[in-house]
Amino acid sequence: MRISVIGIGYLGAVHAASMAELGHEVIGLDVDRDRVAALQAGHAPFHEPGFDELLQRGLDSGRLRFTSDYAELADADVHFLGLGTPQLADGMGADLGHLRSAIASLTEVLPARGGAPTLVVGKSTVPAGTSRELAATLEQVDGARLMWNPEFLREGFAVQDTLVPDRLVYGVPSGDEQDERVAMLDAVYAPILERGVTRLVMGYEAAELVKVSANAFLATKISFINAVAEMCEATGADVTDVSRALGMDDRIGAKFLRAGLGFGGGCLPKDIRAFLASAEDHGVGDALGFLREVDAVNGRRRTRMVALAEETLGGLEGRRITVLGAAFKPDSDDVRDSPALEVASRLRAAGARVTVTDPEALRTAQRSIPGLCTVPDTQEALRDAELVLLLTEWREYRDLDPVATADLVASPRIIDGRAVLDPQAWREAGWEFRALGRPDSEAPEAPQDPGSSEGPVSSDEAITPGRVLFPSGVRVPA
Ligand code: UDX
Repeated sequence: MRISVIGIGYLGAVHAASMAELGHEVIGLDVDRDRVAALQAGHAPFHEPGFDELLQRGLDSGRLRFTSDYAELADADVHFLGLGTPQLADGMGADLGHLRSAIASLTEVLPARGGAPTLVVGKSTVPAGTSRELAATLEQVDGARLMWNPEFLREGFAVQDTLVPDRLVYGVPSGDEQDERVAMLDAVYAPILERGVTRLVMGYEAAELVKVSANAFLATKISFINAVAEMCEATGADVTDVSRALGMDDRIGAKFLRAGLGFGGGCLPKDIRAFLASAEDHGVGDALGFLREVDAVNGRRRTRMVALAEETLGGLEGRRITVLGAAFKPDSDDVRDSPALEVASRLRAAGARVTVTDPEALRTAQRSIPGLCTVPDTQEALRDAELVLLLTEWREYRDLDPVATADLVASPRIIDGRAVLDPQAWREAGWEFRALGRPDSEAPEAPQDPGSSEGPVSSDEAITPGRVLFPSGVRVPA
């Protein structure tokens, strides 16, 4: 099929290359001519595992190309909208300006198709009600139809998430499976559907809400464990013990329960704010009021990290601090609302001499904070540090050898902002080790109770399958 993808940022570029991989003729459009030129020349404008190869394969096959000219889109039967919906400059809501202007441009070129069926598919994250509003404009063009098909891709897994998604969500005006739009999008995604991926058809608003709810839920889960981390800090518990045990409950699940510096990036922070703003617009702001707290817990982790650094050094002015990580998460060069970069910037503002290193994100970090001192080589960056902060958990930093690293720094002090290092190993290597949500020293040995007659159940007893342990007849599952 002939397909266009309008907006070739992160989501759109990956979607365009993935659609070419599925065998379609794809043209990607963006108003940013530099981005168009880079992609057309085979240069990925961001770091994403697997994307460079996908892009090159698409270009080599002749099925993928890029343009800035809407007139070149008139041939396409299906148009995907991959435009950003950033936070409004003057509020919490989502800015739909890019989407509205894309629809306006499409309404100018689509009449040339003479009423031939044309499907426009929104993929961006939008407040409930957006599809209906955009459809009212678009569908004035004879033959043009709009549906909403939110994208759930994660940076770092974008290619996999596009080609092998957990599920496909189709939003059509009445939620009717027989709607002609459903069959058209099925034809585009045929190779994905043939792999058995579940496709769910629902109304416009439900499809829009699935996406924002998913991101709000993930953000809530992270802030939940980070709120527990605050309790751990107050009581001397270790949040990694709590989250490991919590995650073993199938109903809770271990994913997105990693405590630490909290969430950032181009989606979660702005999406929870937009969700709340949209709820307020619909008169149900109280229902989602807890998202304000989710945001606040997340922000407090960054403040706590700066305070811990200050406390550890006894003042920040002129102190040499090395920050490991600038990206908002590993395997990405994205620094949008990066917790690591915000901490680095606040430490700088407080007078510290901050050196930032990251395997992929130093270029974007420097663009975001001009004048930031960045050093690409990890060993070099660590040299002479008085304090090391691990703020983005790249594999390379998780695997650092505490003994060898101690020889590089001026003073062996480290704060683990992602709760990924082994406190004992670092302390044994002579480091002053601190971490968000973890005690400052090893937990004391539990006091023995010499008077107890029962004693703990031995591990052998605890795991013997089928053995009756409780009078109620509850059995340990075989
Ligand atoms: C998110 C959603 O996961 C994805 O489905 C949606 O399409 C876009 O937004 P992404 O922004 O790529 O994807 O990042 P994600 O992997 O969700 O991580 C977000 C942030 O949460 C990162 O800063 C990460 O470090 C943090 N995080 C994640 C935690 O602090 N703890 C966790 O347990 C998991």
